[in-house]
Amino acid sequence: IKEEAMGEIKTLNNMEELEELRIKFLGKKGKLTKVLRGMGKLSNDERPVIGQMANEVRRDIEKEINNTRKRLKREIQKKKLEKERIDISIPGKNFILGHRHPLVKTIEELENIFMNMGFSVVYGPEVETVENNFDELNSPENHPSRDLTDTFYITEDILLRTHTSPVQIRVMKENKPPLRIVSAGRTFRFDDVDDTHSPMFHQLEGLVVDENVTMANLKETIDIFIKELFGEDMRTRFRPHYFPFTEPSAEVDVSCLNCKGKGCEECNGTGWSMELLGCGMVNPKVLKNCGIDPEKYSGFAFGLGIDRIAMVKYEIDNIRLLFENDMRFLEQF
Ligand code: PHE
Repeated sequence: IKEEAMGEIKTLNNMEELEELRIKFLGKKGKLTKVLRGMGKLSNDERPVIGQMANEVRRDIEKEINNTRKRLKREIQKKKLEKERIDISIPGKNFILGHRHPLVKTIEELENIFMNMGFSVVYGPEVETVENNFDELNSPENHPSRDLTDTFYITEDILLRTHTSPVQIRVMKENKPPLRIVSAGRTFRFDDVDDTHSPMFHQLEGLVVDENVTMANLKETIDIFIKELFGEDMRTRFRPHYFPFTEPSAEVDVSCLNCKGKGCEECNGTGWSMELLGCGMVNPKVLKNCGIDPEKYSGFAFGLGIDRIAMVKYEIDNIRLLFENDMRFLEQF
């Protein structure tokens, strides 16, 4: 029995086999146990001799099992270490970093310029009340922009804001002058999509309300902003315009970004490019709507199209590219 056990034990490779062997020889029904059980049948002379032998065999087998267990443990440990070894010479895996969308970059740049000029950045909701989007902004009931064909209505009183100007109302209703804020975000109009139009676009609203705020302050602010954004040699031109919530109102053109005002094909030789923003002195009626005394305070406001600026800055000729999330486009920034 001993030789059989010793022979088998050498061929073992794992703990399970070792346990099987222990049961086979030393278990309740094991081979050696059977011998010990059969002792009663032996004669008085044979019993002590066989008993001693059987016990010795048992000790030897147990010892060998213990040794083997230790050996197997060491081998398993070694294999594990081998497997888990870190090869520090393998080149690292490159991981792909995401990056900022050109629109987000533009918004951050605009916000930074205005923050440096002492403006606070605030946010307003994209889903607005008709009251904030039109009524309080002095937009008359029959104004074409209120038309169903221009505005996404959700209910009779709720809509997707058509501009960021309702943020003006929120700020003036919730705060007392002096106020100096900008607010960027999404705006929505029922436009057909083409290279420069999208039913969803982005605006940045600015509002300043304080004592003695004048049109000169407005012009100066816009001038500085345009120079910060496009460079020192950029000039601005104010053209009279109409908005119900500002009086007087103006649209602002800037030097042609292509020729910097010298006159080229792109600006038809005029040296000026596009209406970049709308602005004006806050209509006293709007101040009153928001509980601000127009006798004591005055203010100016402006709103500009962010998508347009992003397209000029990053030389993107199709607004759709900004919203399609095509990786081939996005990875360029
Ligand atoms: N809300 C106007 C627009 O969407 C822009 C504007 C804002 C004009 C503030 C004047 C003052 O066209």
